[in-house]
Amino acid sequence: MKFFIDTANLSQIKEAHDLGVLDGVTTNPSLMAKEGIKGQENIMKHYVDICNIVKGDVSAEVISVDFDGIVREGEALAKLHPQIVVKVPMIKEGVKAIRYFTEKGIRTNCTLVFSAGQAILAAKAGAAYVSPFIGRLDDINEDGIALIHQIVKIYHNYNFRTQVLAASIRHTLHITKCAEAGADVVTCPHQVILDLLKHPLTDSGLAKFLADAKK
Ligand code: E4P
Repeated sequence: MKFFIDTANLSQIKEAHDLGVLDGVTTNPSLMAKEGIKGQENIMKHYVDICNIVKGDVSAEVISVDFDGIVREGEALAKLHPQIVVKVPMIKEGVKAIRYFTEKGIRTNCTLVFSAGQAILAAKAGAAYVSPFIGRLDDINEDGIALIHQIVKIYHNYNFRTQVLAASIRHTLHITKCAEAGADVVTCPHQVILDLLKHPLTDSGLAKFLADAKK
């Protein structure tokens, strides 16, 4: 399973990279706004800065919702760096654009996916990644992890090459459940990656070893 970090914060990306477990980055317009990145030039530069920290794929999201606009934005993003994956929303114009990008050799991440039917469309259009938002489903009393199981099974049945990128991760149980379900990638907030390190028996065990080592 690949590990992506879900942030536009350069320090967090660097810290996760330095831990040696990072395979890529996902961003979205809300995460960019949270870092105060404004204006086309700054936004484009920020994506390049991210690509220069990590070795893996970096998802950069379009904000147009019409085919021509999505294509224009996506092509400009893809030209920035070979690691850029164009993130496109699961809407009619988005699916058409994913097909267009696929034929041009531009890799895409189909975002805002909340159902297996949407995931089938993304795969049929040739998306490199599909992003089911499991936390947001849980928030409305639906089962986000069940959706990951369903998509993994469907993709396996038909040998779809689209990778399942579990998004909207809220806690470590989401990560381990996604791993059990066979998600190809999880994209996690920085704190949730750090939370994976924690176990009280590790802390107490280490404290005892260090105390005994002094004896
Ligand atoms: C990632 O690709 C998504 O944009 C992100 O995981 C959404 O997470 P949220 O539901 O916590 O905003």
